[in-house]
Amino acid sequence: MELKGKTVVVTGSSRGIGEAIAEEFAKQGANIVLNARKAIPEEMLEKLQSYGVEVEAILGDVSDFNSAKHLIDQTKERFGSVDVLINNAGINRDKLVMRMDEEDFDVTYEVNLKGSFNTIRHALPLMLKQRAGSIINISSVVGETGNAGQANYAASKAGLIGLTKSVAREAAMRGVTCNAITPGFIETDMTAALSDKVQEAMLGQIPLKKFGKSKDIAETAVFLSKSEYITGQTIRVNGGMYM
Ligand code: NAI
Repeated sequence: MELKGKTVVVTGSSRGIGEAIAEEFAKQGANIVLNARKAIPEEMLEKLQSYGVEVEAILGDVSDFNSAKHLIDQTKERFGSVDVLINNAGINRDKLVMRMDEEDFDVTYEVNLKGSFNTIRHALPLMLKQRAGSIINISSVVGETGNAGQANYAASKAGLIGLTKSVAREAAMRGVTCNAITPGFIETDMTAALSDKVQEAMLGQIPLKKFGKSKDIAETAVFLSKSEYITGQTIRVNGGMYM
């Protein structure tokens, strides 16, 4: 897909990987819809606009079905289409299973997995109708490997891979693609919150001996959205952490 003038929705894009994805698509000349639960920094809107594209911030919680509908409906109203949907919004509530509350599991599942279903449910009919579109779900390496202390998060991210493959199969006949990216350890606010000890241990598991950058994920998302022949795939961007 040629991205110039297309409309890209990036959920959870007030910072981190989502912000980098938005910028990478803006560089390609795509119009950007930012989303987060709380305000998006004004400087971020200005930075993206400096690429000569249109930028809209539509706040809302993706785990809420109607809020996800609002996000897609408003995008359609403003830009006329949804060409690329990036499900990036995600949270973690790390605890060992034996100490995990029901709420820790539910809220993680509701944002990471159900949130992606919610946006896909509303955007897919538009994409099928226009016979073009790309959906990219940001999963995680731990969805493939599992991780002690992240049963809720890993389960939600593994579920996202199943969602990706099923949507890919349902949408393929109309030329719509759906893929997942599984980042390894990427330097963001989410990972900065981990202790030095945990970060050190993670580094030991990465053959390339460095943490990834948000840009590594953003460039992969752009690549996937441009391809018309990659669908149902899980693309690992993890420094070799899992092969
Ligand atoms: P972050 O915590 O820095 O940013 C998350 C974004 O999602 C924020 O903009 C936040 O406002 C938004 N968000 C959270 N809940 C939301 C909701 N219910 N509705 C709308 N927006 C919501 O996280 P980071 O590190 O940038 O991660 C982005 C994605 O990449 C997440 O899905 C995360 O699970 C995934 N990931 C991150 C890795 C890392 O090493 N940083 C590794 C593997 C996956």
